[in-house]
Parts: sequence; C-alpha cells; structure tokens
Amino acid sequence: MTELAFKLLKEKKLSQKEYKNLISTYTAEDADVLAKEACRIRDEVYGKKVFIRGLIEISNICKNDCYYCGIRKSNAHCVRYRLTHEEILECCEEGYKLGFRTFVLQGGEDGYYTDDILCGIVSDIKKRYPDCAVTLSLGERTYESYLALFNAGADRYLLRHETADTEHYSRLHPKELTFENRMRCLNDLRDIGYQVGAGFMVGSPYQTVDHIAKDLCFIQDFKPDMCGIGPFIPHKDTPFGDFSGGSADLTCFLLSVIRIIHPCVLLPATTALGTVSEDGRERGILSGANVVMPNLSPASVRKKYQLYNNKLSDGAESAQCLQQLKERVALTGCEITVDRGDVKKG
Ligand code: 5AD
Repeated sequence: MTELAFKLLKEKKLSQKEYKNLISTYTAEDADVLAKEACRIRDEVYGKKVFIRGLIEISNICKNDCYYCGIRKSNAHCVRYRLTHEEILECCEEGYKLGFRTFVLQGGEDGYYTDDILCGIVSDIKKRYPDCAVTLSLGERTYESYLALFNAGADRYLLRHETADTEHYSRLHPKELTFENRMRCLNDLRDIGYQVGAGFMVGSPYQTVDHIAKDLCFIQDFKPDMCGIGPFIPHKDTPFGDFSGGSADLTCFLLSVIRIIHPCVLLPATTALGTVSEDGRERGILSGANVVMPNLSPASVRKKYQLYNNKLSDGAESAQCLQQLKERVALTGCEITVDRGDVKKG
C-alpha cells in the first residue's frame, strides 16, 4: 500500500495536495484496501443495504446550453417532451406499487414548471404518499422558489456542483452559468432545510487531478447529504462529442475515498457508471456506494432523456425490472431495502 492510502485509512482526511498525489499514484492494491474500508464504513453506518429511488425524468426541455449535456438547448436533434401533472402522478402510483418510497423528479430547466405548477405536483405526491420522500433535481432556481417547494413538501434536492474549480466550471458551461450561482443555490438549499446532493463527473473535458482534489476538499467541507459521481460520457450532438469518456476504475476509487472521508453520505452507483462498465453498478456498491436510482419514467420518453450516448434505461436500470436489480445487488452481498432511506447525520 502507498503511504498516502495508509494515511487516508488512518486519518480519514487528506489535504488537497495529498489528494492530488494519491489520485496520481494509487495502485490496484490501494484501490482494493480503500474499497474494503469504504464498505466496512458503509455497513457500520447504514448496514449492508442499498436504497432505491424511482427516477422520473419529467422534462428534457432546457434553457441552458451546458457543453457536456445531450439535452442542452442547442441540440436540435433532441426530441423534446414534458410530462403532465397526471403523468407524473401515474409514475408515482406505479413506483409505489413496485416498492419505491422515494421519488426523484429530474428534468432540464424548463420554464413551464413555475413554482405554482411544481408546488401543486409536489403537494399532490405528498398527499397521496405521505410515507414517501420527494427529491427534486431541476437545476438552479431562486431562494424563494426553493423555499416554496420545500414548504410544499419536497424533502431533498440534487444539484451537482459539477466541479469545485471556478475556471474549470467556466470551461464546462456558457457564461450565463457561474460557479458562484451554483454555490449560492447549494447554500440556499441547505439553509432552507433540504437534504442536499452535490456531485461531479469523472473525466470531464479539461479536468485535471488538481480539480478532482478540489472536489474532494469541497465534499469534505460542505458535507453534502448525497453525492452523485459518474464518468463523463460524450454525447455526439454536443461541443464535447469528440472528447474521451471518464474511467470506471477512477470513479470507483473516488467513491471509496468519498465514503471514507464522509461516512454518512448517500452515494449512488450511477447510471453513467453502469453504462460505461457492464458490472459498473455492482462495482460501485463494492466501492462503498449505497443507492441506486432505477428509471420510473414512462417507457415512451425514456430514450429521449439522453444526457449522454447509450444511456441505459432498461434491464436493471428500469424500475419495472426490480427483480433483476435485486439479483444483481445480491451479488455484492448487499440487499435492496424498501424504505425512504434518509441521510443519517454523523
Ligand atoms: N456524461 C455524464 N454525465 C452527464 N451529466 C450531464 N451530461 C453528462 C454526460 N455527457 C450529468 C451532470 C448532471 C447530471 C444530471 O448528469 O453531472 O448534473
């Protein structure tokens, strides 16, 4: 084992410079030892359990033009859709019967969803399924909007920070989107009382080991309740279509590091990880992840929510195939659990 991996095992925290060196020099043995420690910590905090979230992709209409994203406004090849209030409730009804107790409403920044419309949807879901958590993942909004949605019953909000480096942020996004506003949103969400999710892509264009080291320091300081990390996967109809994708190995290594430095975090084995590697989901769990988010969107729109090429939406990624997912998760020695799966505060 290298010295830095040993130090991380012992002290559960490193400096930015040490993270940079660890990421640049870690060995297969380090990855193995840290993965085992990550699983031990996860099992101690949450048990050998994997929480499931039903993901409802409510709209692929977006006013933003993020360079990496397949549903960016300028992608004229993207066939746009938006789910109605009733369609979203039907997804929840189906999900509830399947055993889901968290619904994640994710979508592009679609101006149709005003606070009034969204608050109506959220409060209807909470009225019908008071034992369920509602998670929103709908991008940047105002403090007032986040507050109204929280008061309507939303419990959690996912908003990846994408990168903790201001300059790198500006290479991934057009100038209308700023790192400063992203941080404002994350802080507002936390102040209001949401369980907050951050996260980033591994191997995004122009990302350096220094940037990843900064991401780890950000996670250490901000302590998000959830942290979504997955490999970058190019989408051919974006400015980043010719860049290479991120690695499953590095993603898994970072999952382990994040579990070790922030034991209580809810850590998904992401669809992107399952897309780049056939057994990515299982490897994510074996690296310390404890959440999976199968797709509950209506079958007719699933292929249209293409953040990146070849995004999985059937098989174990589909909410309807929970049995398959259960079998896959069982291979890791963990077990899927039907429960809201709230964060434990450490
Ligand atoms: N590859 C991997 N992840 C992507 N996302 C968007 N585009 C891509 C891509 N090409 C991620 C972003 C976003 C989340 C919803 O999906 O990190 O926050």
